[in-house]
Amino acid sequence: MIAQEVQTNVPPDTRELGHRYDGVAKVTGRAKYAAEFPVKGVAYGHIVTATIPAGEVASIDTSAAERASGVHNVLTPFNAPRVTVSGNVNILQDTTVYFSGQPIAVIVARSLPEARQAAKLLRITYKEQPAKLGFHAHLADARPPGRGRETRRGDPDASLAKAAVVIDNIYSTPIENHNPMEPHATIASWDGDKLEVYDATQGISGTQGTLARTFGIPQANVHVINPYVGGGFGCKGYTWSHTVLACMAAKVAGRPVKIALDRGQMFGPVGSRPNTYQHIKLAAASDGKLLLQHHESTCYTSLIQDWVEGAAGQTSLMYDSESLFTEHKVVPLNLGMGTWMRAPGESTGSFGLEVALDELAEKLNMDPVQLRLINYAEKNPENGKPWSSKHLREAYSQAADRFGWSKRNAKPGQMREGDLLIGYGMATANYGAGRSPSSAIVRIQPNGRVYVGIGTQDLGTGTYTILAQSVAQALNMDPSLVDVKLGDTTLPRSGGSGGSTTAASVCPAVYEAAVAAKVKLAQVAVADPHSPFHGANADDLDTRDGQLYLKSTMAKAGADPESITALIARNGGEAIEATATSQLAPDRDTFTSHSWGAVFVEVAVNAHTHMPLVRRAVATYDIGTLLNKKTGTNQLSGGIVWGIGMALHEEAHIDHRYGRTINENFAEYHVPVNADVHEIDVTCLNIPDYKFNQLGCRGIGEIGITGVAAAISNAIYNATGKRVRDLPITLDKLM
Ligand code: MOS
Repeated sequence: MIAQEVQTNVPPDTRELGHRYDGVAKVTGRAKYAAEFPVKGVAYGHIVTATIPAGEVASIDTSAAERASGVHNVLTPFNAPRVTVSGNVNILQDTTVYFSGQPIAVIVARSLPEARQAAKLLRITYKEQPAKLGFHAHLADARPPGRGRETRRGDPDASLAKAAVVIDNIYSTPIENHNPMEPHATIASWDGDKLEVYDATQGISGTQGTLARTFGIPQANVHVINPYVGGGFGCKGYTWSHTVLACMAAKVAGRPVKIALDRGQMFGPVGSRPNTYQHIKLAAASDGKLLLQHHESTCYTSLIQDWVEGAAGQTSLMYDSESLFTEHKVVPLNLGMGTWMRAPGESTGSFGLEVALDELAEKLNMDPVQLRLINYAEKNPENGKPWSSKHLREAYSQAADRFGWSKRNAKPGQMREGDLLIGYGMATANYGAGRSPSSAIVRIQPNGRVYVGIGTQDLGTGTYTILAQSVAQALNMDPSLVDVKLGDTTLPRSGGSGGSTTAASVCPAVYEAAVAAKVKLAQVAVADPHSPFHGANADDLDTRDGQLYLKSTMAKAGADPESITALIARNGGEAIEATATSQLAPDRDTFTSHSWGAVFVEVAVNAHTHMPLVRRAVATYDIGTLLNKKTGTNQLSGGIVWGIGMALHEEAHIDHRYGRTINENFAEYHVPVNADVHEIDVTCLNIPDYKFNQLGCRGIGEIGITGVAAAISNAIYNATGKRVRDLPITLDKLM
C-alpha cells in the first residue's frame, strides 16, 4: 500500500490535473517509444561488443558475415567512416578496447535475427593486454580525478584534537546499473545532409548537438523526436555509442537503421553508477555539536574518461561543523564509463554520512533527530549564503509524528514481534535545485483549446501533466483543455532532463508564454470596436474559463465577460500565439536553493533467516510547491522504492577475469518487486520557494532515493545490533 497525503499551502487558484496527461495513451499502448515508430525501409542494426576487457582489435574478417542472409553492411573500426568524436563514445574510430562490452562492430541487416546471426560469423582477433578489474584490489592506485575536487573548512586537525566523540569508518556501495523499462533505442534516417532521429533520451537538444558536431552538419539539420520515454534515471542523459552508430550505419547503408539495445547491453556500454569506498570521520563535542566532518570518497572510473560519483559533495552543505574536509579520488579500471544515476553522489554519499551520524548519535547517547537539529545548517555552510527557502525542521517533525518515532527504543534488539526483530531508523534526504533557461510557445486556439509546445522531454515522470497545469494556471482554465507537445527539436529549445531541473525550468517558461499570449488576446479585445472591452486598458483584463473579464468585475455577479472563441472568430479566426524564454532569477548568486526531506523506516528482520523487510517508509519533503499530487508523490515514492533496492538488493558483479557484468539481466540483478515494497507514506510541506522561480517549485526527480538506504541500515541496526556499512545489506551480512 502506498499512502500519499499532501498538506495544502498551495494558492487557491492552482489548477491541478487529477489524472496523468499521458496516462490513457500509455495504458492503451498508443504512446510510441523510440524503437516503435514505423519508418519505411528501416534496417536493423546489431552492435557487436568486445569480449576482452583490454587491448586492441587486431583484425575482423567480415567476409562470411557479409555473405550471410539479409545482411546489408558490416561496420568495423577498419571501414567505418571517420567522424568527429564528440564526447567519449566508442564509435569505431580506433581499435583500442577499453572494456568488455564496448561496441566494436555493427551489422546492418533486413531483420534483427539475421543481423544477430551474421554477428556470429565475424572472425575477430585481439591483441590482449592485462586488464585492471578489481576495484578493491586496485584501491592503492587511487588518484585525484582530472578536475580535482577537494574542499576544506576550518582546521580539521585542531577540531579533531578537541573532540569528545569520534566516528571513523569505511562505508561502501557497489556498482549499480540503470534499468528503465525501456532500454535505449535509436532509429536514424538521412535525407541528403539532413538527419532525422527517434531517440530514447533525457535531452533531445543534447542529442541534436552531439550528432551535429559528430557528422559536421548544422544543428538545424538534425531533427530529434522523442515524445515518450520509458524511464531515464541518468543513463539517457548522455549520447552513447549506439545513437551515433545508428546514424553512421544509416549513412553507410543508405537506408534508415534502427538500433535497440538488449537488456544485457544496459550493463556497461551505457554507463554505470561506480562503486564507492568512503572514508568518513565525524568528530563532535559532548553536546553533539559537530567539530569535524571528513569525507573522502573513491570510486572506479573508466579508462575512457574520468567520471566521479560525487559522494562527498553534499557533505559540505548538509550540516554545520567547525571544520570540514572532503575529497574525491578515482581508480581507473577496464570497465564502461560511470555516469549519472538517480541522485549521483547524494544517494551513495548520504548512505555513508547518514549512517555515520546514526553511529555518532548512539555514542553520544542522543536521539538521531536531535543530533541533526543541533547541527542544523541555518545558512549554506559552504559559503554563508542564505537558503532561498528551507523547512527541514518541519519535515523532520511532520515525518516523525506520522511515523511514531517517539515509540522507538534506542537500544538495539528490544522490539520484537514473535520471530521478527523490529527496528526504526531515520536519515535526512537532500538534493540541489537547479534550472536551465527554457523557451516555449503557447497558442490560444480558435476552438477554445490552448496549445503549448516546448522542446523538453517527459521521462515518464509527469512533465506533460505539469506543463498543462502551468498553462492552465496562467490562463485560469481547465487543464484538460490544454494540448501539450514536447519531445521534438523543432519546438522552442529547452535543456536536458537531468539533475532534477525539468519542472523548475519548463513550467515557468510555459507559464510566461501563456501570460504573454493572454496579453496579446487582451490587446485584440481593446482594439476591437465590437468587444465590450473596446478602448479599455489591456492590463485591466484577465481570462477565466474561456472568458475575458475586466479584472475589477471578474469576481462580481453581472460581470460582462466576452468569450475568447467569439473574440478570435471576429478577429480573423487565427490562434493568438506567443513565445517566452524563462530567465534565471537575477539575484540567484545571493542565495542557495536546495531541497530537503526526512525519511523514517521500520524494518522487520527475521531472527532465524535474517531476512530484512522494509515494512514502512514515512517521508516528508520540502521541495517547494508540489505541482501535482499524483505525479509528484508518485515520483517521490518511486525514489523510496529505489532506495529499498539500493539498500537491500542492487549490485552488479564484475567477472575479474573477463571484465563482464555477470548478472546482466533482471533475473540476477535484483531490484525491488511488489513483495519488497510495503507501506510508503509520502507527504510534502508544499511551501513555495518563490525566490527560486515564480511557481515556487524545485525539481523532485532525485531526492526520493536519498537517505533511504541509510535509514534502512540504521533501522536494521536498531533491530539487530548489526551495523552494516557495505551495501547491499544481504542476508550474509546479518548472520
Ligand atoms: Mo538524473 S541521474 O540527473 O537523470
